[in-house]
Amino acid sequence: MKKMQIYAFDMNCVGHINHGLWTHPRDRSARYTDLDYWTEFASIAERGKLDGIFLADIVGVYDVYKASPAPVIETAAQIPVNDPLIPISAMAYVTKHLGFGVTVNTTYEPPFLLARRMSTLDHLTRGRIGWNIVTGYLDSAARSMGFDTLPEHDARYDAAEEYLEILYKLWEGSWDDDAVLRDKAGGIYADPSKVRAVSHDGKYYRMEGIHLAEPSPQRTPLLFQAGASARGQDFAARHAECVFIASPNPGAARPTVDALRAKAAAFRPWRRRREGSQPDHRCRRADGKTSAGEVGGLSPPCERRGLACALLRLRWYRLFEVRIG
Ligand SMILES: Cc1cc2nc3c(=O)[nH]c(=O)nc-3n(C[C@H](O)[C@H](O)[C@H](O)COP(=O)(O)O)c2cc1C
Repeated sequence: MKKMQIYAFDMNCVGHINHGLWTHPRDRSARYTDLDYWTEFASIAERGKLDGIFLADIVGVYDVYKASPAPVIETAAQIPVNDPLIPISAMAYVTKHLGFGVTVNTTYEPPFLLARRMSTLDHLTRGRIGWNIVTGYLDSAARSMGFDTLPEHDARYDAAEEYLEILYKLWEGSWDDDAVLRDKAGGIYADPSKVRAVSHDGKYYRMEGIHLAEPSPQRTPLLFQAGASARGQDFAARHAECVFIASPNPGAARPTVDALRAKAAAFRPWRRRREGSQPDHRCRRADGKTSAGEVGGLSPPCERRGLACALLRLRWYRLFEVRIG
């Protein structure tokens, strides 16, 4: 039977996509700077039997309208905006089953650092973390990070492919399952012969290093993506376990869903290779033994792949479930 998962959709800011709603007498979004706001939100979502909370993010400001950031600053349209990852550990603390999806941009941060932040959240949420992979769309963000302009669209996805390759190596390959001994009597925390540096020498990234975090419940977090272009859909078909699409009705969603499914099927050999290349971890996760389904609130990877649905605060904007697995 088809199973739908329902997520609340928010952002660590005052005005996410319901512009102006913060002025409503009963709106409490301006409390986004209080940890209580996030823990209450998470508790309510869990009590209400939602599957998760999904946090969007941008790392720039909208400054095209009127050639100025003034209109969005004045109306709090996604500015000010705080880091979405930080409240998650507190939300995890007050919940047991709620999943968390969080948006992080691949264009501006080395994969090595994000690998550790995601592993940390995977530990602290006990396997309830998911990552929405975005490559950015704001020139203002690019300028803030020292680029003259936003890197070209397809090149951002090409770089993101390498980014993911590095992350898979770090998350899945750097530490063996039995590397951590915690042998107090022998004074050995971990067996160095079961921990290895991974390396990558590509067009966009070069690195070598041991993943800094010990294996977390999921290792690789649940992967979300929202590519809409042909290149974005290729990327989604390769990597995403859940794909976001925006559509006014199910009929309009159909061509997108069909295209994504076809692409995912075409990439299936690649996906199998990806999974097969880490037989110890991916296959073990696929049988559910240490998957998020047991440890946290998400379903085991095989079942969870391809289910994406979000409960939005905005009425005209709807998301539909896409199964790509
Ligand atoms: C439901 C939904 C949520 C999205 N959330 C974010 C977000 O939080 N941050 C972001 O930078 N981009 C976000 N995007 C934009 C996508 O990452 C992507 O840029 C967009 O869908 C266009 O796809 P394309 O780059 O393949 O053309 C979102 C897209 C959709 C449909």
